[in-house]
Amino acid sequence: MKPRVLVAAPLVGDAVERLRAIAEVEQAPHVLGRAELLARIEGVAGLVALLVHRVDGQLLARAPSLRVVGNHAVGVDNVDLAACAARGVVVTNTPGVLTEATADLAFALLLDAARRVTEGDRLVRSGAWRGWEPTAHLGRRVHGATLGIVGFGRIGRAVAARARGFSLRVLYASRSAAPPDVEAALGATRVSLDTLLAEADFVSLHAPLDASTRGLLGAPELARMRRGAVLVNTARGALVDEDALVAALRAGHLVAGLDVYREEPAVPAALRALPNVVLAPHVGSADVPTRAAMATLACEGVAAVLEGRAPPHPV
Ligand code: DGY
Repeated sequence: MKPRVLVAAPLVGDAVERLRAIAEVEQAPHVLGRAELLARIEGVAGLVALLVHRVDGQLLARAPSLRVVGNHAVGVDNVDLAACAARGVVVTNTPGVLTEATADLAFALLLDAARRVTEGDRLVRSGAWRGWEPTAHLGRRVHGATLGIVGFGRIGRAVAARARGFSLRVLYASRSAAPPDVEAALGATRVSLDTLLAEADFVSLHAPLDASTRGLLGAPELARMRRGAVLVNTARGALVDEDALVAALRAGHLVAGLDVYREEPAVPAALRALPNVVLAPHVGSADVPTRAAMATLACEGVAAVLEGRAPPHPV
């Protein structure tokens, strides 16, 4: 009898079709909510989950036959890794394939927040634009400014590569130093987080969310940033104290471009009311080839474990 696999959302491409060759696949017609996921998980051997699906003790207790979770994301903060390990459930993720798409979006948010593109869009649509004025709608200069990258893995480095085209000075803060040849190729200098926050005109977050990075930027860290600096977050909302960020934006101390939020899809009304923040709906990886590649890796992780092969990216 083929093992049962639950694919908890419609995916891009045909990766699920290939899973059908080795498994009895239940393909959800929409992104499953918590109750729907819990109701379907019993008897499932392989789960393709999204970052919105909490894989925790409660879910695992309902799924004694679960052997593998193919997480359709590089971040695995939605998965209780210790609980999975304790039950022998393999977890796989999708690193590498979303690097360039996420770096593109980080740069889009940086440019948008700095040059007030979305704010200008709102102005034009409202009919209130009075025409070209030397002193109106002024933004921040990007060319030649200083970019601070927090977390210097694949995505942080891809952002640094883009920064070269804008002649940005690049600082980075990271647990470990990048190899000297990488630093040289990207023109990036490692500094402490404090120095980065004090010197950067733009700060872009690319650290994973875990116990050590939750609330990495709280009120004191945001206060350390330069007045008028731009904070870009395409990583995870909980890296930043959202209330402290709202206060810093409201005070005009900072400008921001955000793709991620503490409690998605809830975005605080106070944040939505502010003009000096660009709000994207967690679309860092949202281009077609990237999402297709993520689906392929997530499904391949599940298939590999069910067939007794080594999965491409075990966490
Ligand atoms: C991830 O893979 O962790 C991203 O947030 C998805 O866009």
